[in-house]
Amino acid sequence: MTRLVREPGALREACDEARARGHRVGLVPTMGALHAGHLSLIETARARGATHVALTIFVNPLQFAPTDDLDRYPRTLEADLARCRELGVDVVLAPADGAMYPPGFSSAVEVGGVTAPLEGVHRPGHFRGVTTIVAKLLNLAGPCVAVFGRKDYQQWRTLARMVRDLDMPVEVVGAPIVREPDGLALSSRNVYLAAAERARALGLVTGLRAAWDAFAAGERDPERVLALARGPVEASFDRVDYVALADADDLAPVGAELGARAVLAMAAHLGTTRLIDNVVLGEDPRPGF
Ligand code: PAJ
Repeated sequence: MTRLVREPGALREACDEARARGHRVGLVPTMGALHAGHLSLIETARARGATHVALTIFVNPLQFAPTDDLDRYPRTLEADLARCRELGVDVVLAPADGAMYPPGFSSAVEVGGVTAPLEGVHRPGHFRGVTTIVAKLLNLAGPCVAVFGRKDYQQWRTLARMVRDLDMPVEVVGAPIVREPDGLALSSRNVYLAAAERARALGLVTGLRAAWDAFAAGERDPERVLALARGPVEASFDRVDYVALADADDLAPVGAELGARAVLAMAAHLGTTRLIDNVVLGEDPRPGF
């Protein structure tokens, strides 16, 4: 039985009560419009020992810039709940508007370092919104295993940093990226893509694969790896925010030669839609096929 709660305090009660009954709580924060990528996080939580899974659905206004897609972000609560029921999620928090940020709310959680490059350059304030809402959700859920997708790689590393820095009683887990059969990473924003844009979106995974192949063949020159990755992205997207290599743990710049492992991350625009993708060279399987 999946319980839907609307008040943040009810999530705390449900998780406290589950722990009192001997359960390990798993937390899966989302903004809804659930797809197989989100749903895989539920399985990962269980694989990491969660026996009571809480999933949250909240389109967090704090992490959207005024020019972002907050108003048109897909909202599909009934379908989301049906999928949560199918998958045996124990409790869903879908807070009423205003419940997370009541009048007078004036605090924020800010993580430095890992948030500065990549998305941090192009979406100022975004991670502050993410860390603030996730800190609240983790405080409500209490001791738990919290699962995030590596699709949002920098977000996952940022939240892992926050939990360590602030001594939160949480195990942070990063789950692998779920892709369409042709390699496109699943994203709630894919619904914005017109058919022709959907085809062009494959430029991301084509670039990742070109770099992956070169790395697998022994290429360790970051500039050469980046040039291979950039080609298909620049050819198919209207505007490229970044195609970059970074340390896979803290996202610091890479040196003159790549080590055993590095994350290749990219963000680019097709019309009014912004897509991101990444692969950890030296660790992840070849993206797509
Ligand atoms: P949202 O974009 O809804 O994503 C919720 C979770 O699903 C994130 O951890 C994200 O990385 C993961 N996810 C999305 N697509 C995925 C895919 N194709 N494969 C694997 N995991 C995927 O990320 C957010 O919401 C918000 O920033 C949030 C953390 C909920 C804070 O508001």
